[in-house]
Amino acid sequence: MPEPRKIIIDTDPGQDDAVAILLALGSAELEIIGITAVAGNVPLKLTEKNARKICELAGRPDIKVYAGAIRPLVRELVTAEEVHGKTGLNGPDLPEPKMKLQEQYAVDYLVETLMREEAGTITLCPLGPLTNIALAMIREPRIASRIKEIVLMGGGFFEGGNVTPSAEFNIYVDPHAADVVFRSGVPIVMMPLDVTHKALTTTKRTEAFRKLGTKVGLATAQMLEFFERYDEGKYGTDGGPLHDPCVIAYLLKPELFQGRHCNVTVETSSELTMGMTVIDWWGVTKRPKNATVMRDIDHDGFFALLVERLGRL
Ligand code: BDR
Ligand code: CA
Repeated sequence: MPEPRKIIIDTDPGQDDAVAILLALGSAELEIIGITAVAGNVPLKLTEKNARKICELAGRPDIKVYAGAIRPLVRELVTAEEVHGKTGLNGPDLPEPKMKLQEQYAVDYLVETLMREEAGTITLCPLGPLTNIALAMIREPRIASRIKEIVLMGGGFFEGGNVTPSAEFNIYVDPHAADVVFRSGVPIVMMPLDVTHKALTTTKRTEAFRKLGTKVGLATAQMLEFFERYDEGKYGTDGGPLHDPCVIAYLLKPELFQGRHCNVTVETSSELTMGMTVIDWWGVTKRPKNATVMRDIDHDGFFALLVERLGRL
């Protein structure tokens, strides 16, 4: 088997972030060299704790978790307790984590690791607002050419937004950070709402996690049952979109996704459309292509992969 691919997950758990972390932990093709937490779905104090809870749930207290930015670069923090609950991880009753938070600031960790490790070997997987990644790029611009790839969940275009009519939550929370990242020159693969809204946690799919008969399977089913109720109410669907695991699934099975390489620019000035990801799908501008934007997913294949990999934990 080839060497596992080294990834850093930057995250704001969040039930769907949690499932993404579990998917990576259940997959031998990936090595999580660190998890960096950021403020997003809930404040940083909770997201870093939730990341540790998930590592412990998976029996991996050895994973290093770092705390990063407590707020976006310019704007006030906006959180999403209405979706994720007060703790960010409502649903299962997970114990307080025993594993320690790393002392190093996540932004310093990102810079130090990317400058130390061989160039082109580390993939970043941002699942929340892009504050930590942008801060690292601003602090040490040389990291950009050393990152292998950024595979991120964020944005939306054809589907519109989920927090305003035009903006998706992760980009809306820190549009200035997203702007830094999309202009960085690092190869980007983007999982926008256009693709994640096709990955619905139907009752049958949630049951499949419960039927694993494991602690991880049960906690996943409970997380998804809590998480999906908000979007079920909003969209009238059976199940809610399972956004963040799309990022990890792409690393494992890119053939599950289809998209197009195009230009993506982030709106940072108009309050009406703040955080909109303007995707030049049809190539009507001369703006340089800076991201592969996914639009379609083999959702049955995606959920089969999830159940199989979470079943290994
Ligand atoms: C994104 O926002 C958060 O609520 C989810 O964790 C996901 O990363 C979807 O818009
Ligand atoms: Ca997230």
